[in-house]
Amino acid sequence: MNNREFGQSGIKLSPITFGSMRLDPNRIELEAAVELLTYLYDSGVNTFHSSHEYETDSFFCQVMQQFRARHPGSEIVHIAKIGAPHFDEDKFNSAKLVTLIENRLQQLDTEQIDLVQWLVRHQPNDDQHRLPILAECQAELGETWAQLQKQGKVGALASFPYSVPFAEAVLQFPTCSGLVTYLNLLELEMTPFLEQMEHAGQGYVAIRPLGGGLITTKTLVQKNENTTNDADKLEAMLTALEIPVADLTKFAVQFPLLHPAVASVMVSVTSINHAAEIIAAVDGIKSDRTAFNNILKQAEYAPI
Ligand SMILES: NC(=O)c1ccc[n+]([C@@H]2O[C@H](COP(=O)([O-])OP(=O)(O)OC[C@H]3O[C@@H](n4cnc5c(N)ncnc54)[C@H](OP(=O)(O)O)[C@@H]3O)[C@@H](O)[C@H]2O)c1
Repeated sequence: MNNREFGQSGIKLSPITFGSMRLDPNRIELEAAVELLTYLYDSGVNTFHSSHEYETDSFFCQVMQQFRARHPGSEIVHIAKIGAPHFDEDKFNSAKLVTLIENRLQQLDTEQIDLVQWLVRHQPNDDQHRLPILAECQAELGETWAQLQKQGKVGALASFPYSVPFAEAVLQFPTCSGLVTYLNLLELEMTPFLEQMEHAGQGYVAIRPLGGGLITTKTLVQKNENTTNDADKLEAMLTALEIPVADLTKFAVQFPLLHPAVASVMVSVTSINHAAEIIAAVDGIKSDRTAFNNILKQAEYAPI
């Protein structure tokens, strides 16, 4: 598995990022979870996404600690989700950002967060409030970030923008190296930014390539009333592209990685079987802008 640079940030990610949100101790025991991480790592997946906000986070940190104890010297790349300001705040506070990052370093028992996925939140969480917060914090964020980088505590900063107007604004920030947000066959709203991001040297991590489990072969095989609309759309897409239904999971994982701006797809798996399928899907994958654009065209026009 060839690692890919996140834009021109110097941070290299495995094409698959393991997303920890669903690593639930009610579904998988500690020993099996350590085995899963070991399998992923040995297969070339060294990039891990986590958040102190996930209910499963203390379990993930425990699994990571066990993994590292058994694999000293392993090179892990961390992507961490950090919201500053949070929903109950109304402006950016750099001391709060620093505290959240320092806490995260401790929780993950690591020296550096390679990619900080930064969220600007507000209650209500709309652009009318968030865009002015963003505009106001540019200089303060820039200074704080430079300091954190100098101390070796962070690598690059990327945005989870929540909206297209916010993405447009934050991508103008010199501090922002790219986006870590949704991109899959059913969530395409950020695709218009990909070309400009590539030219600007910014990177993209595509969250939930399987649409949270919806964009899989199983969904089409076991179609029901809750999934009919999406399943029909996916079926129309596969027919137009002459892709067998049996290949949908593989195709869904590959799609974002066809764009040169996309460094990694962020996916959750809770079993070695699922992990093996995802890893096989990216085997030998290379960027292919023409193929990406062709699929995008079909995905955009597939009937809803
Ligand atoms: N705002 C944010 O920053 C944000 C939001 C959402 C998600 N995330 C991150 O992104 C990660 C991925 O998101 P997600 O879990 O919602 O979406 P996803 O990765 O697209 O889908 C995960 C689902 O697909 C299933 N799956 C995995 N491999 C499969 C296979 N080979 N065949 C059939 N099903 C398969 C998983 O089942 P099993 O669990 O049974 O393997 C799970 O139910 C999260 O873990 C989280 O770290 C971040």
